Amino acid sequence: MAVANIVPKPNVCVVTDAAVFANLYNLTEQTDPAMPKNGAYEMNLTATESTIKAADEQGLFYAKQTMRQLQAVHGSNVPCLVIKDAPAYPYRGIMVDSVRHMQSVQELKKIIDAAAMFKFNVFHWHLSDDQGFRFESEVFPELIKESSVRPSSDFGKVHDNTPYGGYYTKEQMKEIVDFCHERFITVIPEFDLPGHMSAVLHAKPELSCKGEPVAIKTTAGIFPDILCAGKQEVFDFLFKLFDEVCEVFPDQYIHIGGDEAPKKYWKTCPHCQKRKAELGFTDEEQLQGYMTCRIADYLKAKGRNVICWNETLASDVLPKDLVIQNWMDKKKKCPSFANKGGRLIYSDYYHYYTDYPYDMTPVAKTYNANPVIKGQKAKENTLGVEAPIWTEHVRDFARLCYMTWPRFAAVSETGWTKPQNKNYNDFKERMIALLPVLSDMGIEAAQPKEWDPNPFTRLFGTTSFFAGTVNKEMILNFLKGNND
Ligand code: ACM
Ligand code: ZN
Repeated sequence: MAVANIVPKPNVCVVTDAAVFANLYNLTEQTDPAMPKNGAYEMNLTATESTIKAADEQGLFYAKQTMRQLQAVHGSNVPCLVIKDAPAYPYRGIMVDSVRHMQSVQELKKIIDAAAMFKFNVFHWHLSDDQGFRFESEVFPELIKESSVRPSSDFGKVHDNTPYGGYYTKEQMKEIVDFCHERFITVIPEFDLPGHMSAVLHAKPELSCKGEPVAIKTTAGIFPDILCAGKQEVFDFLFKLFDEVCEVFPDQYIHIGGDEAPKKYWKTCPHCQKRKAELGFTDEEQLQGYMTCRIADYLKAKGRNVICWNETLASDVLPKDLVIQNWMDKKKKCPSFANKGGRLIYSDYYHYYTDYPYDMTPVAKTYNANPVIKGQKAKENTLGVEAPIWTEHVRDFARLCYMTWPRFAAVSETGWTKPQNKNYNDFKERMIALLPVLSDMGIEAAQPKEWDPNPFTRLFGTTSFFAGTVNKEMILNFLKGNND
């Protein structure tokens, strides 16, 4: 255990007297408007009195999370110390996929409360995908009636013939939003489009190019059933849906997906082709860009901004102020986007996807990832970091906790602690001391012996995880120890 055991590591922490314990009964909170309003805080713990100080409630909240950890680990033996702390990045997120498998409101609250203790400030909530629609829409009740339950589940080697589904009521979603806000966490709902829309199209096939029935999906994958980019009714639907989404989710960003959208049907659809010709476009990617712009403009008029996955950069038609979440930048579009002033969220899948086994993504690999990517000139164009948990193979809360912790904590340290203050072995020691704290919160993390498997175990575990789905590129990337 470190002398002052805190994750993420404070940027400046001087233990003034390790042998004398701080008086935390005489604790004063101060606000100092001259301090930065980015979550920065200061803490001065002495044997006679203790002070926490920040510009605002958010900064004080982070001071309290530091105190929460110190007291949980050191009990009444917290050493005298001085901390001057501020985050490395303004955006520090976790993403939970509540489509492939859902979490109860109580489970989500446990995840969010733990995330808050590690100073995350974004909860990205994946609520719509091919395998289900989880947002209670009163404007389009058919999305709940017909698209929230899939007939069976066939993820990987597990076949389950029982229907699976559910949705979050507006009241539940608002409860999550309030719970997050109390912890200075903003909520970003994701409605992935134009791809990953099979569940929506199941209820509303008229929004596809062909207008034919679309099955809600029961397997993982990338599916050609996407929203038509030519039909006006698609935009009418999206605008009404986003009106409703904005009523439930009041924060700045709405995530509109944009990943993995095969353009197979757009190429022959008369509506899409008419739109493409009218706009003078030369390829279908521009049509996706056009859709993104229309939705971004619509949301902009409501005071919001959009975030999209990096495939959106395949189009040269892009909304202003677009924020790109970089998960798999095959075409290397992200560095030039950033160098032209675009803002990136770093979620590289080889480092940050916590649904991959520890054999493939050891904690050290997650910890050491650099959110300033190769070819990117200015650190400032990285808005921050976000670690997702996709849940095709994560069927219950115990598994979710095991996969995400301590990798979420590793990401929290990259998001908060400046690179020169980071050190993996030091992180490991502090994190081990925090495992009982997580456990008391109902979160059973992976045990330290599983964090960084040896190379043989890694290769074996990775190939068996991907058995049947592995491709050459994945193996090459793995062998290269990829990637930055
Ligand atoms: C993604 O993992 N398809 C964003
Ligand atoms: Zn079409």
